[in-house]
Amino acid sequence: MTPTPVIPADLARHCDAHDAQARDELFAFLRIPSVSARSEHKPDCARAAQFVADELARIGFVTSIEPTAGHPIVVGEWRQAPAGAPTLLIYGHYDVQPAEPLELWTSPPFEPELRDGRIYARGSVDDKGQLYLHIKALEAHLATRGTLPVNVIVLAEGEEEVGSVNLEAFLEREKQRLACDAVVISDSTMFAPGIPSILSSLRGMAYLEITVRGANGDLHSGMYGGAVVNPAMALARILATMHDDTGRIAIPGFYDDVRPFPDHVRAQMRELPFSDDTLMHEVGVSALGGEPGYTTLERLWTRPTCEVNGLLSGYTGEGAKTVLPAVSMAKVSFRLVPDQEPQRIADLVQQHVERVAPAGVTVTVEHLHGGKPWRADLQGPIIDAGKAALAAAFGREPVITGEGGSIPVVGDFERILGAPVLLMGFGLPGENAHAPDEWISDENYRLGIRAAAMLYEQFGKLHADEAQRPAS
Ligand code: BES
Ligand code: ZN
Repeated sequence: MTPTPVIPADLARHCDAHDAQARDELFAFLRIPSVSARSEHKPDCARAAQFVADELARIGFVTSIEPTAGHPIVVGEWRQAPAGAPTLLIYGHYDVQPAEPLELWTSPPFEPELRDGRIYARGSVDDKGQLYLHIKALEAHLATRGTLPVNVIVLAEGEEEVGSVNLEAFLEREKQRLACDAVVISDSTMFAPGIPSILSSLRGMAYLEITVRGANGDLHSGMYGGAVVNPAMALARILATMHDDTGRIAIPGFYDDVRPFPDHVRAQMRELPFSDDTLMHEVGVSALGGEPGYTTLERLWTRPTCEVNGLLSGYTGEGAKTVLPAVSMAKVSFRLVPDQEPQRIADLVQQHVERVAPAGVTVTVEHLHGGKPWRADLQGPIIDAGKAALAAAFGREPVITGEGGSIPVVGDFERILGAPVLLMGFGLPGENAHAPDEWISDENYRLGIRAAAMLYEQFGKLHADEAQRPAS
């Protein structure tokens, strides 16, 4: 075993002296309600982009704010590293999920608050806190040494939470400028408190909206019910055909392209200390359910899913109203695993829905967005640097974990920029991402700054070592 590397004293001193300030400045970022899904927040997204650009400019980066058909992309560049140093691209997102239902927040979502060692606010962990801790780590280097050991590109987008629809084209168009040796992303969770983690996989996504239309308007359910097909019932029947009774997805062809995870990866997962009971307790349910034949972690990390994310039809106000609704709608998303293709899955679902839809209604399926699944190679200097950086900051070696969530652009980085991606996140289970009372652990925010600062240091070193190694 190589000894655990230690964070250089000058960087550690700078971090120690600036923790309170780093938190205050994050609070200013968190106060901007940059909800990408809502058009009324478009100006706030622009403000958040400007905030990131201003912060990067303040620490010495050359910045630009690139307009897109949606929310702008911020690019910050610092290219004064010694000759031969590698280039690291740091990706994150400044947009956040809608904060509703507001009444369930203990403190308002855009008025950050430190309580019990946690920073509560929408975007605290997903992803503003994790993006900003990199800016603070870059600042630690530049403020103490006036330089960085690697060239750095910061790429912050404002549409991750709505599917990163404009980013792929941007990467294609700017691939020369964005050329890099590795990408690091901090937009994920650690396995458990005190256990730093590197992600080995992410699921992909196909997000569909299914609309069922019946009569040309709402009808009296006594005068017409029993004779006219009810779109709410039709939709319920359609949705019920998507799984069989055991919990397997029953859409023909759905599993065709699933490539099983290698045995050694599954074995590694089984070694992680995980308890179904703890999970049930954490989320408040009395049983778990899913595809038969897999453990819970395998279901979450290695298997595809079909979930209803939203349902709408008929009368949902107070009391009773006897109505036969004219329309029903469901938002349905599929989490995908290698080598499932979002477009092919969307096509299969559409064919299935058309096949099972009853006569008397018309069904439309709209593909809102998709993202490819991803599996890491977990080799090379950026992975070794990540391991060393996390060990130095947290005082223990990271574990390798999978992930059920999606970051659609990760595969694009590898494909378009040809660079390996390190996923090194600082969230924690129970962090309430996308839900009321989202938080990031204050300790993880502080240790994340140190880990990121150490990552740049180690990546510079290990990349140089690799360059000097004779070709074998
Ligand atoms: N940070 C998450 C992705 C994530 C979640 C990584 C949990 C690791 C653990 C990201 O912001 C996110 O929410 N992504 C969306 C993508 C979707 C809109 C295509 C997701 O997973 O739902
Ligand atoms: Zn998110």
